[in-house]
Amino acid sequence: MSALTPLAERSAELRVAGVEPVGPYTLLRVAAGPIEPGSPGQFFMLQPPGRVLPRPMSLCLYEAGELCFLIDPIGPGTRALCALSPGETLGVLGPLGNGYDLEVPNPLLVGGGIGIAPLPYVAQVLGDVPAILGFRSDRHAEAAALLPGAEVVVEPALVTERIPAGPVDILACGPEPMLEAVRRIAPDAQLAWEAPMACGYGACYGCVVEIEGRLQRLCVSGPVLRAA
Ligand SMILES: Cc1cc2nc3c(=O)[nH]c(=O)nc-3n(C[C@H](O)[C@H](O)[C@H](O)COP(=O)(O)OP(=O)(O)OC[C@H]3O[C@@H](n4cnc5c(N)ncnc54)[C@H](O)[C@@H]3O)c2cc1C
Ligand code: FES
Repeated sequence: MSALTPLAERSAELRVAGVEPVGPYTLLRVAAGPIEPGSPGQFFMLQPPGRVLPRPMSLCLYEAGELCFLIDPIGPGTRALCALSPGETLGVLGPLGNGYDLEVPNPLLVGGGIGIAPLPYVAQVLGDVPAILGFRSDRHAEAAALLPGAEVVVEPALVTERIPAGPVDILACGPEPMLEAVRRIAPDAQLAWEAPMACGYGACYGCVVEIEGRLQRLCVSGPVLRAA
């Protein structure tokens, strides 16, 4: 399913297959039905019950025909998604946007907090790949179980202190200060950014950010962008 696949073919009501706590987060498993997982770093718009607007979520894992999303319940939309029960249905649109370029010689995954969400799927596609994950507490760090073998750091230690010298191709996702710090270290890094999104496919202009000195829609130009 490419970016040219009509939106109607990327939209479906899917059955919730599981809702699992992962530290303070929730792993929402949805039977994929006709929806394809896309490439790592792309995202999906999930429609929380009782909310007008869908919410953007990265694909965390794709296994046993299920799309899995790791969700941080920070507001009404994410809390409604985490409150779903198996057997309920959920409106899903995707995959959307541009993911990571995986054709790199020395990939290193770098994630912070809920920003680790897209990285397990990167590892699924790439195979054995090193990863450094940072969290604010041991409880948040329970989410590292989704990426076995990753090096885990808990604040006050920072992921950027652990990035090795030498040639690495960083694929990162995390809070803005972390991405800015990675950008300073590695101008070639691929960074997954966030902005509030209402449609996810270029129609609402709600996600406009400045990229290379021009205002652009993050959902169309990103969410993954080169640091430089
Ligand atoms: C491409 C993309 C992928 C994402 N993937 C994930 C994911 O895998 N897991 C996950 O838990 N979250 C992810 N998010 C963030 C998630 O979409 C928001 O947290 C969610 O939309 C908040 O909705 P809400 O109704 O719960 O909270 P709201 O009430 O909408 O927001 C709560 C607070 O967060 C701020 N906020 C909301 N959305 C964003 C945003 N996108 N960027 C910065 N601040 C925001 C609001 O201003 C407010 O202060 C992603 C966002 C994007 C753009
Ligand atoms: S979310 Fe609507 S244009 Fe990007």
